[in-house]
Amino acid sequence: MPIHTSQNFWILETDHTAYALGLDSEGRLVNLYWGERLPRVSDYPKESFPLNWASFSGAGQNAREEFPAETGLKYIEPCFKAVYPDGVRDSVLCFDKAEVTGDSLHIHLLDAIEPLRIVLHYCVHEPYDLIERWAEVTNSGEKVITLERVLSAQWHLPRGRYRLSHVYGRWADEWNLCREPITPGVKVLESRRITTSHIANPWFAVDAGSADEDQGEVWFGALAWSGNWKFIVELTEYSAARLSLGINDWDFAWQLNSGETFRTPPAVCGYTMNGFGESSRRLHDYIRDRVLPKGHSLRKVLYNSWEATHFDVDESSQAALAELAAGMGVELFVMDDGWFHARNDDTAGLGDWWPDEIKFPHGLKPLIERVNKLGMEFGLWVEPEMVNPDSELYRTHPDWVIHFPGRGRTESRNQLILNFARQDVQDDILEKLDHLLADNDIHFMKWDMNRNVSEPGWDTAPGDPRELWVRYVQGVYRVWSTLRERHPQVTWQSCSGGGGRADMGILQLADQVWISDNTEPTSRLNIQEGYTQAYPACSMEAWVTDMGPEYLPLEFRMHVSMCGALGIGGHLVHWDEDKRAQAAYWIARYKEIRPIIQFGDLYRLRSPQKESFSALEYVSKDRSEAVLFAFRTYQPLIPQFESMPPVYPRGLDPEALYTIEGFDDIRSGLAWMRTGVEVYLTNYQSTVLRIRKVEG
Ligand code: DGJ
Repeated sequence: MPIHTSQNFWILETDHTAYALGLDSEGRLVNLYWGERLPRVSDYPKESFPLNWASFSGAGQNAREEFPAETGLKYIEPCFKAVYPDGVRDSVLCFDKAEVTGDSLHIHLLDAIEPLRIVLHYCVHEPYDLIERWAEVTNSGEKVITLERVLSAQWHLPRGRYRLSHVYGRWADEWNLCREPITPGVKVLESRRITTSHIANPWFAVDAGSADEDQGEVWFGALAWSGNWKFIVELTEYSAARLSLGINDWDFAWQLNSGETFRTPPAVCGYTMNGFGESSRRLHDYIRDRVLPKGHSLRKVLYNSWEATHFDVDESSQAALAELAAGMGVELFVMDDGWFHARNDDTAGLGDWWPDEIKFPHGLKPLIERVNKLGMEFGLWVEPEMVNPDSELYRTHPDWVIHFPGRGRTESRNQLILNFARQDVQDDILEKLDHLLADNDIHFMKWDMNRNVSEPGWDTAPGDPRELWVRYVQGVYRVWSTLRERHPQVTWQSCSGGGGRADMGILQLADQVWISDNTEPTSRLNIQEGYTQAYPACSMEAWVTDMGPEYLPLEFRMHVSMCGALGIGGHLVHWDEDKRAQAAYWIARYKEIRPIIQFGDLYRLRSPQKESFSALEYVSKDRSEAVLFAFRTYQPLIPQFESMPPVYPRGLDPEALYTIEGFDDIRSGLAWMRTGVEVYLTNYQSTVLRIRKVEG
């Protein structure tokens, strides 16, 4: 049993960690411990000791509350804020009861006066060393309660100084890793864009400043939500570090009617003593096993037409690409933007999801049949949440877009956003996509989203119009999950102009993610390293394209993309035979090693964000095989080979004997890991080495 209970004191144990909480002497639900699992239940602290406080703050300022509400003499960031029918904005959450069901703990809190119940859920994912948390708020009275903030969780670290790791960026430059000290005050990372955003991501890792890939305490977490989110790091005047994560309360309000429940998205959190590498592997395993719908299906090698033909698609251009792709060993052919009604550029067509009558006079079937005959599956691009003003859909339903009546509607890429908070809008798009999938033999759908929100109005909202932020995302989830249920053969990709919507929420629906529109391979090394801090390689689509300088060798490009779910996106008609043969060779090699890459453990050996010589390794779960990739992006004019340090593999069985491709020795795993391998690379050279267990 992962949960121990004794008199209002609970210990949640995973294989290697523990999280303890209980009621303090004033009845507050407080965190008592979060760290390494201790040998005996009696080892865990049962009391927390709030520091003394001056008359300027109350005890709540220092209490390590699990779910602090806005009340009393405290000024910390709360998880909960509400307005009651009489205008009161004070919530005093009192413990009511706790229930344990299997691997979950449910703690019920009641407001001291108002008819409000909050249930805090904790689900223990023992083998992953993770705890999943979410909250449910119920109005058990007659009158409306307005919710102004309901975060998923707050976490407390032992008192001390810490460093925060997070990712930041912008369109075509997502997933830069930042490590910075946590300083007194509040730091907020967030999205206000209605999607997760390219700018930041709801994932964090915190350490005491000295952790590295292999060692050191790391506390980490991520939120399963694809809309506006907020992560708050607070270091109080008493050096208490608090981390809070959930739906963004910026411009948020929720009318909670009598008998209704508001449920937050789940946040998962974890602890490890084995550095950032282990924190990523814990999340990867969990996401593969418990989040992704098909976490254990091999990702196919796909071809995507976007960078080759842009909007200029028709049966013959796509068939020509398909033929060449099939000859190289591609398994899935995806036709990107440009195939639907009146879509010749980005000014028209979005919303009219049927094949363009001029480009595809006989529909998509003839192309699909040709692709299938070549031995490949067929996939298609859609952007369901969007509409061009120049479309049948907009001409019929101009009121269906997100807007404020009487105000301008800001277009971006000539498009507006359909209000997916409305059920009629959801139903219409659902029906169109449903037909498309029912009528055609489609095995892959790329769901794109190419702008962020403006004028976030919803004049026909049944509740508070600011519910838009949440109901929109729920609407997207509803349409997507209904399509998944009805068309189980389809594999789904999430894309939002690259990595604008990548999070644990969308990974419940999307099997893979297009993580950036930047396919230049040296940038891609950084981008991929940032993405895999939280999300697994099997979900990371990576195409080889023509982007970037011509002197970047194809082999380098292939190796970079082989680190994820390999795809090809170059203009194959412009590739000569030799180039296509080389690509075919690497595709074949990728197929041999992809189970290790897609389902194995990732070790980041040398960071491309820090070094011009970088390396990473994937090790199969049974440690019988591994693949090591190394890349050189820059070296000084006079080559100084001796300045290149050895690469040290990780994750091998120390006792077992291994060979490494290109080296004659048979050595123990420990020997390879301690002495490393010398890999000589000059500018833009790369290598992939297979490591095999031969004995032990
Ligand atoms: C943005 C995506 O990221 C690209 O891959 C491509 O699908 C275009 N949209 C199509 O408009």
